[in-house]
Amino acid sequence: METTHGFDSALFRETLGHFPTGVVVITAIDGDGEPVGMVVGSFTSVSLEPPLVAYLPTRASGSYARLRTSRHFCVNILAADQQDLCARFASRTEDKFAGVGWRPSGQGAPILPGTVGWIECEVAEELDGGDHMIVVGRVLDLEVQRPTLPLLFFQGGYGRFALPSPVASSDPELIEGAQMAEIVRGPLEDLARDLGADCSVMIRVGDEAVFVTATSRGDSEPGSLAVGHRIPLIPPVGTVFCAQAPDSEVERWLDRAKASDEDRASFRDNLAAVRRNGYSLSLVPDDPTDRVALMSDYSGVDVMPIHERRIRQMIAESASLYEPVLDPDQTYDLHSVIVPLATGEAQTRLAIRLSRLPRGAGVVRIEGWIVALKAVAEAGAARLRVRAETAAADRR
Ligand SMILES: Cc1cc2nc3c(=O)[nH]c(=O)nc-3n(C[C@H](O)[C@H](O)[C@H](O)COP(=O)(O)O)c2cc1C
Repeated sequence: METTHGFDSALFRETLGHFPTGVVVITAIDGDGEPVGMVVGSFTSVSLEPPLVAYLPTRASGSYARLRTSRHFCVNILAADQQDLCARFASRTEDKFAGVGWRPSGQGAPILPGTVGWIECEVAEELDGGDHMIVVGRVLDLEVQRPTLPLLFFQGGYGRFALPSPVASSDPELIEGAQMAEIVRGPLEDLARDLGADCSVMIRVGDEAVFVTATSRGDSEPGSLAVGHRIPLIPPVGTVFCAQAPDSEVERWLDRAKASDEDRASFRDNLAAVRRNGYSLSLVPDDPTDRVALMSDYSGVDVMPIHERRIRQMIAESASLYEPVLDPDQTYDLHSVIVPLATGEAQTRLAIRLSRLPRGAGVVRIEGWIVALKAVAEAGAARLRVRAETAAADRR
């Protein structure tokens, strides 16, 4: 379809439709004292100093004709589960606000419920934008009221944001790892019972570890890790998976910490200790329940960049808890003991982990745990090597 200037407007729409936008509802109280609102995708931040935002209504919009009768408006950022509300405010329905429990902003503009956030503005300028207007608003007040996934509009349809997680449910690495983990289940359950601790298998998938085959010591105290939890392998986390890795892999692991030279050196020391000892230790953090909550968020369906940032921060802040040098005259509250499974592969893929261990343990007791865990790891690894050899022989 050509415009009066010989321009292909269908191509314009089609191409611009490949650029994703968020979706907001612009609301105000019109000159008759009635609430008015319209959906726009053309919302953007403009300036931080002074704080300005803008949206672009079509000149033909009946809603905009009413919106501009007010000096104030509110931008309501729709959440991914608010498609119904979006459809209503994009329609020409008479009373778009019927049954919507809105509340007024400081200047009276409607704040819609259930949205990610809202931004109250005073109209600063209305500029020419072809068949649209460019309405610039000065920000008066704002709030994130529900830090959840926003609604997105893309290629003429709605969608939601997803982090590019390497752990898809059908990930072959994960499935194979889980099958391998089954081999150590029995001995791990025995160990959990004997030590009064939790045991789990960690599978490396890409740059993350996934917890599988958790066996519980049998109570329901909060703070334990559920099957399916994921954790990014960012230093000091992941030493057991890097201990046998080539230098290039170790450098990649260190790079992920985005750490200072000093911290990088101490992570190298951690790795050297794990290589020497054949296990990794960590001490109980101040806030184990918070950590599990963070990991649940990070492992959830709606993973957002904020979850990744928080878990990174948690790992960075807990660096001092890893690879403590044990003093025979002290007792320790150990958080975890992790031992790799040496299956004969070039890369360590599996590790077993003890957690929720009895508190206040002396060095002799801790060494006993390590010996017991290593015995399970060695027996499991031996069985996995036999399995791999049998499978290879079958293929020949
Ligand atoms: C995802 C989406 C984004 C939209 N973005 C805009 C926009 O940026 N500017 C605009 O004028 N209308 C936009 N619309 C259309 C209006 O929401 C809608 O057609 C209008 O409010 C109803 O017409 P009326 O204002 O004449 O009553 C959008 C609609 C949808 C569904």
